[in-house]
Amino acid sequence: MVSKVVVAVDGTSGSGKSSTSRGAASRLGLRYLDTGAQFRAMTWWMLQHGVNIHDPQAVADSAGKPDIESGTDPLDPTITVDGDDASIAIRTEQVTNSVSPVSAVPEVRARLLELQREIIGDGGIVVEGRDIGSVVWPRAQVKLYITADPAARAARRAAEEGGSDLGATQESLLARDKIDSGRAAAPLVMAEGAQHIDTTPYSLEEVISQVVALVEAAGVDV
Ligand code: DC
Repeated sequence: MVSKVVVAVDGTSGSGKSSTSRGAASRLGLRYLDTGAQFRAMTWWMLQHGVNIHDPQAVADSAGKPDIESGTDPLDPTITVDGDDASIAIRTEQVTNSVSPVSAVPEVRARLLELQREIIGDGGIVVEGRDIGSVVWPRAQVKLYITADPAARAARRAAEEGGSDLGATQESLLARDKIDSGRAAAPLVMAEGAQHIDTTPYSLEEVISQVVALVEAAGVDV
């Protein structure tokens, strides 16, 4: 069987990777997987069940418990935890501030890696996260590393969150970058063979068009 394309999109928080990945998947008729949503769902379950997220052993012991399911329609990506829709709950500040220590635990990563590889299957998908091109699917035919200046990222994130404080938003993004890049397990790195896109000077539509062109130029089955 000919494998269909896997587009691995990694990069920093707030760089525009989610909107870019969804938009490109939709234009190319591909599925879409937001792995950050899975780490957030895991974190939300831990908070709901009173797990001390700063105790790596407690987090490791619970990593196999939640049933997390991701829907891969780029126009309506869903996430459920134990059958309940968690799409709103995983975006709260409490989850955002708790997700990095949970994601640093190897048992959490191993559990989600299994789910991620199962969903990717024989491809036809854009997958976004921090370790997709390096760990989850190193043989992805297209690998992108998306970044933007911290000030631009903070401005976009603050606008999404309805005008929250710019300075605090930038500080929180940089703090997450530091933990995501510095952790021992699957740190955020630019994968071998990845193409770097700095989105700072471009509109979302421009970046989506760049990604669509790169995937089409790769000449793989979509
Ligand atoms: O993309 P996001 O901001 O929703 O991701 C939330 C957190 O999940 C992020 O701080 C790091 C973690 N994450 C990860 O460790 N590996 C991934 N593949 C995706 C996200």
